[in-house]
This record gives sequence, C-alpha cells and structure tokens, in this order.
Amino acid sequence: MRRWWLGAIVFIALDGLAQEPRPGLQMLVYGATGNIGTHIVDEALARGHFVTAVSRDPSRIEKQHPNLTAVAGNLLDPASVRALLAGKDVVVTSVRGVIGDDKDPKNSLQYLAVVAVVEQLRALGDEAGRLIHVGGAGSLEIGDGRLYADKLPKLFLPKGLELEIQGQILALEYLRAASDVRWTYATPPKNFTNGDRTGNFRVGADELMEDERGRSRLSRADFAVAVLDEAELEIHTGRRFSVAY
Ligand SMILES: NC(=O)c1ccc[n+]([C@@H]2O[C@H](COP(=O)([O-])OP(=O)(O)OC[C@H]3O[C@@H](n4cnc5c(N)ncnc54)[C@H](OP(=O)(O)O)[C@@H]3O)[C@@H](O)[C@H]2O)c1
Repeated sequence: MRRWWLGAIVFIALDGLAQEPRPGLQMLVYGATGNIGTHIVDEALARGHFVTAVSRDPSRIEKQHPNLTAVAGNLLDPASVRALLAGKDVVVTSVRGVIGDDKDPKNSLQYLAVVAVVEQLRALGDEAGRLIHVGGAGSLEIGDGRLYADKLPKLFLPKGLELEIQGQILALEYLRAASDVRWTYATPPKNFTNGDRTGNFRVGADELMEDERGRSRLSRADFAVAVLDEAELEIHTGRRFSVAY
C-alpha cells in the first residue's frame, strides 16, 4: 500500500517536471521588427528569456532591455544564418517580404527561411536548437481534403499574398519531411487583431478553428503567448499547432 502511494507521488512529481516552463532560453527571433515578431520579442523578454533580435537593419530595433541584443542578419545569406544559430535553444522565423517577381512558392521568403534554418540546424548536429516557424492560416484544413487556401478567391488576392500563402503551405510540407530536426509550425488564425494579451485562447491542430459566429481570430499579443508557451514547454515538436479564440 505504502509503495503504491510512493509510486504515485514520484509519478506526479515527474509529470509536473515535464510541464515545467524552461527559464532563461537563448532565443533567436527573425522578424523582430515585424508586426508579430515584436510581440514575440516582448513576450520572451517579459518571461525572462535572452533574445537575439534579428533585422537586416538592426538600428531599427530601438527597444532597450538587459536581455535583448539586436543583430544584423539575413535569412537569404547562409553564412549569417549559420553564425546566428549557434548556441540558441529556440529559433523563431516570423518573416514576410518580396523576393523579385517570382511566382514559384519555392522562392517565397517563408519557404526559403524554413529551408535555410533547417539546413543550418542539421549542420549543428547535437548542438542544434529548435525551430518555431510562424506559418499561415491558408495551410489549415477545412474538411473534404481541402485547405483554407483553396477557399480564398484567387482572382482578388494580391500576387504577393498568393505566393506567401502557397509558400507557407510548402514550408509545412518541407518541415513534415524533416524528421531529423526539432521543428514546430505555429499556425495563426484567419485574422490577427491589435487586441490585448489575455492568455485565453484555444490551441488546436490541423483544422481551422472558428468561433460560434464563424470568426477565426486572435490578437498578435496572444499569438506571442502561444509561441512562448511552445518555446518553454516543447509540446508540439515535429508537428503544427493552431491557435484562435
Ligand atoms: N492569417 C495568417 O495566416 C497570417 C497573418 C499575418 C501574418 N502571417 C505570417 O506571419 C509572418 C510574419 O508576418 P508579419 O505581419 O509580422 O510581417 P511583417 O510585419 O511584414 O514583418 C516582416 C519581417 O520579416 C523580416 N524579413 C524580411 N526579409 C527578411 C530576410 N531576408 N531575412 C531576415 N528577416 C527578414 C523583416 O525584418 P527587417 O525588415 O527588419 O530585416 C520584418 O521583421 C509571415 O510569415 C506571415 O505569413 C500569417
């Protein structure tokens, strides 16, 4: 009887440990000057992590914080990616940009970003950290084998956005085949808002989540909470998760 209790206590203690947030992560954030990336940087700093914020022009990162370092970096330059990834526990890619006028999703920044980071994580071997990629809602499933992207009116979409949506779908396919690195694809809802950080949202998987009024939305601040929860708790390694109210 006593041994049963002892076992139960040890089990509960170990279970608790597995869910314990990791303090003091070394985080590299690509897209730190962006709409979503700035919230990710702020949330990481508020939780006591060490953030290396990347911009092609780091003078644009004006925030001052003892745990924040602003550096120059470009995802399209493998040498710079290699140098910045070393020693990082978590790499976040939250990037958007136009590269030439190419219509091939393989030339979208999101796809190229994921490939660039995965290749350098592979090169780091046992020293490699994890990638959390900020993906696209177009990759979410809406039933009958269709993606949300299939439902969008292509005729009215700006060409750059169409390329980004397809690039994000391709990035997820690429990651799903990359079983030798630790990755997570954090999927936004259809719409972001400028609302407050509430910490109250649903976490789902591959399906598009809508509320009772058919809305699929989340504040950028709450999306950052979800990304940092993932960074600390490592729940969705090797798969994607989605978030919405
Ligand atoms: N509903 C949805 O699915 C949804 C909605 C919104 C956004 N998103 C996704 O969220 C991600 C971020 O969006 P956002 O609105 O935050 O973008 P954003 O505000 O336009 O910011 C883009 C960021 O990308 C960085 N960047 C561009 N080219 C780069 C390069 N070659 N190397 C390194 N960094 C580069 C920029 O940094 P510098 O200019 O400082 O170098 C900037 O910080 C995108 O991937 C987008 O697809 C999804």
